[in-house]
Amino acid sequence: MTNVTFEEKSKVVFVGCGDKAHGFARMHDLHSNKHGKYQLVFTEPMPTKPIDPFDSDYVTIEHFPECLANADIVVIVIPSYAIDSFLIQNYTLLKEGSKGYLAALNITSDHWVKAFNDTGAIQEMQNSLNSKMKLTTSVCGPSDQCVKKIAALAKYLGYSPTVVPIDQYKCLQSCQTTLAGTFTYVTVQVSGRPHFQWYTLLARHSSKMFAWTAIWGFSLSLLPGTCIRLLKQVTYMDTTPRFLIWGCSIRKQVGLLSLYFVLLHACMMLLIFGGEYFGFLIDDGYMEWNTEASMLTAVLSTSLFTITGIASLPSVAHEMNKAQFMLVFGPVVWSALALGVMHVMFLGVPSWTDTPRSRYSWARGMPPVTLMASVLPLLVMFIKAVQVCHASMLRAKNWVTSRHQVSSIHASDHLFVIDDEVEEVFEKSRMYV
Ligand code: HEM
Repeated sequence: MTNVTFEEKSKVVFVGCGDKAHGFARMHDLHSNKHGKYQLVFTEPMPTKPIDPFDSDYVTIEHFPECLANADIVVIVIPSYAIDSFLIQNYTLLKEGSKGYLAALNITSDHWVKAFNDTGAIQEMQNSLNSKMKLTTSVCGPSDQCVKKIAALAKYLGYSPTVVPIDQYKCLQSCQTTLAGTFTYVTVQVSGRPHFQWYTLLARHSSKMFAWTAIWGFSLSLLPGTCIRLLKQVTYMDTTPRFLIWGCSIRKQVGLLSLYFVLLHACMMLLIFGGEYFGFLIDDGYMEWNTEASMLTAVLSTSLFTITGIASLPSVAHEMNKAQFMLVFGPVVWSALALGVMHVMFLGVPSWTDTPRSRYSWARGMPPVTLMASVLPLLVMFIKAVQVCHASMLRAKNWVTSRHQVSSIHASDHLFVIDDEVEEVFEKSRMYV
């Protein structure tokens, strides 16, 4: 007699029987192994609402809330306009679980996961096996374990899940802090200029804040990846510091927010550009060579950043192959940053070095905004240059070693075995004779 062990199925209860629930049932029928590890149960929390029959032999309908009793996963499939009233009506059930069903499930407030609400019920109901595109859903929540469970369920149902780190919203905080810092610095600095008018903070000087925030944002989004590469090259370490991983996880959002700020800066500058405000850039009706060069690098940088922004859209990124991806998020984005810094430096460097110092650029004795804005990007570009040089040195070293190995192979006439190994094998074989 053979011992057969039955793996218990995880019970997934879908609360709600509307279109979305029917979409789930269809996804299950299309993509899943019907005898797989999940048992799908549907339930309707509103007793008066009629339930449309499910066109599937593999899902069951049970009573609410009894069906929650031994559920492993509860998916709330309620339209957003009804979710509040659902939560209020079932507050006692959800909160005071000691008397109810959820206590047995050990559900606490950090067990929630957001998923499946970025795809439409129509998409799920019309999904077919012939469709080339998989439905993508972002999965996010405070508990890593629960997020993993839901990602596994999503895969089982035929979705392509993307796990989004919960702390991504922190990138908004970091951008706000940078903007607050640049705002304070610019306000204090420019208010010390001769003939300063406060209303010019509205456009003329707020544009500086946006520009500075943007260029620092771009630099910060490129910094963690570069540091990880450099650390791996230099120390050969297997683990990556958590703050660098965190930096990488929010770099897309930081980059997109920076793109937003740079577009604000460019629009504002184009709107107010004229002799009244920017007479210092125009000499006798003409621009000097450095101002012209600054404008050229500005538009080139803006265009390249826009390309990277477009390439980061999921629909575009999906269509790109690896080489295209590496090109855009490698040379293109670094050229955009370099051109952005050149734009600032063409305008600013004369005022950094002028003696005596200009009362406008060095108002209150504080370094010019152009200098402050350039420091971080220059540092990041320096780190990148070190990393690239080091990588090239490693490649050259590997190439020399591999050439040495090839010549050894010829010398020993043993394909894929270098001299030392041949020696070792020879010694061993002598021992066995
Ligand atoms: C069409 C695109 C752009 C135009 C027309 C433009 C125009 C200008 C102008 C006229 C200034 C001088 C402002 C002043 O002295 O008050 C300036 C400054 C600056 N720009 Fe741009 N810019 C553009 C794109 C960019 C880009 C792509 C970046 C960065 C990635 C950038 C970053 C800066 C910074 C940091 C400053 C220095 C802030 C200051 O002191 O004014 N700009 N830009």
